[in-house]
Amino acid sequence: MDKVFIFDTTLRDGEQVPGCRLNTQQKLIIAEALENLGVDIIEAGFPISSPGDFESVVEISKLVKNTTVCGLTRAVEKDIEVAAEALKYAKRPRIHTGLGTSDPHVFTKLRMTREQVIERGVAAVKYAKKFVEDVEFYAEDAGRTDNEYLAQVVEAVIAAGATVVNIPDTTGYCIPEEYGLKIKYLKENVKGIEKAIISTHCHNDLGMATANSIMGVKNGARQVECTINGIGERAGNTSLEEVVMALRKHKWLDFDTAIDSKKIYSISQLVSTTMRMPVQPNKAIVGSNAFAHSSGIHQDGFLKNKDNYEIISPDEVGVDQSSIVLTARSGRAALNFRLKNLGADLEKEVLDKVYEKFLEKADNLSVVEDEHLKEILDSISMDVA
Ligand code: KIV
Ligand code: ZN
Repeated sequence: MDKVFIFDTTLRDGEQVPGCRLNTQQKLIIAEALENLGVDIIEAGFPISSPGDFESVVEISKLVKNTTVCGLTRAVEKDIEVAAEALKYAKRPRIHTGLGTSDPHVFTKLRMTREQVIERGVAAVKYAKKFVEDVEFYAEDAGRTDNEYLAQVVEAVIAAGATVVNIPDTTGYCIPEEYGLKIKYLKENVKGIEKAIISTHCHNDLGMATANSIMGVKNGARQVECTINGIGERAGNTSLEEVVMALRKHKWLDFDTAIDSKKIYSISQLVSTTMRMPVQPNKAIVGSNAFAHSSGIHQDGFLKNKDNYEIISPDEVGVDQSSIVLTARSGRAALNFRLKNLGADLEKEVLDKVYEKFLEKADNLSVVEDEHLKEILDSISMDVA
């Protein structure tokens, strides 16, 4: 299987979200959990952005043992110097530098020419190489950059020494086929592309971030930038757990990561509570409903054979067990299952009676809990008495 490197940017792109700011101590706890999870690169922060972020990158560099620690910069000498200083204790330091390459970024944000952007990018990579061997270049808004110009940029920065070229879909604009073709175009048209790893960095504005990242990998990318729970600017970044499990569930793709998937749920909870960012209940892999079955048809099929309705076993991602949730849409099979869990093994006629009472209750409740089932059982035994 081909290895796909996981570059986690929870502590940089994820932490940019309003309300998610972390102090150094909190960042250290998450960095340690990321290393235990098996990520290959931790983007620890943007050292020039604030003294606090600088300190976090320093402390994470000291703490982390084997994982590469990365610091973000603009294509600006001062940023690069500060990042290099913050990373000086890292066993494997990486500087991540770059600038915008799409027409809106080149002409209205940077107010430069296309040629000047290439010169600035090349200069930044060469400058970063004076401090560290591992330099990643990002072509911001590559998703909206025309492929021919993007190829020129990528070729120039690889010639300047970039070890990784990041192709961000900064605005989450691309659809999977388009993003995949972009990576394919670079693979086929950039001289020297074999000297660098191509990286995806997809935002989720159209809900395509995971699909775009997978298409990037299928077309030649070997690093995926992502965050725990998909947190990040606006609609967020590619979610780490989704990419990891999509690759693992589709072995025919022949790619894998070094992630210990059993640690996914606990780190999801850690990030959610530390950053005060609740996980939406229907979030793939880690949402509270991800392994909950609530409609009668699904419950019946699931109770006969889990594979009927689950493509992932909860223990694969560190979730205790699937749940059978009782609602007004649940059937007898689910009710019987839950009653048996309470120790009540009922004859068919009694079960029918309980089911009738259950439906009356369920129509007035969003979820029927064990305590409600016990009330029903009590009322039935009083009827019998
Ligand atoms: O989305 C983006 O383009 C980024 C870069 C700074 C890598 O986060
Ligand atoms: Zn980003």
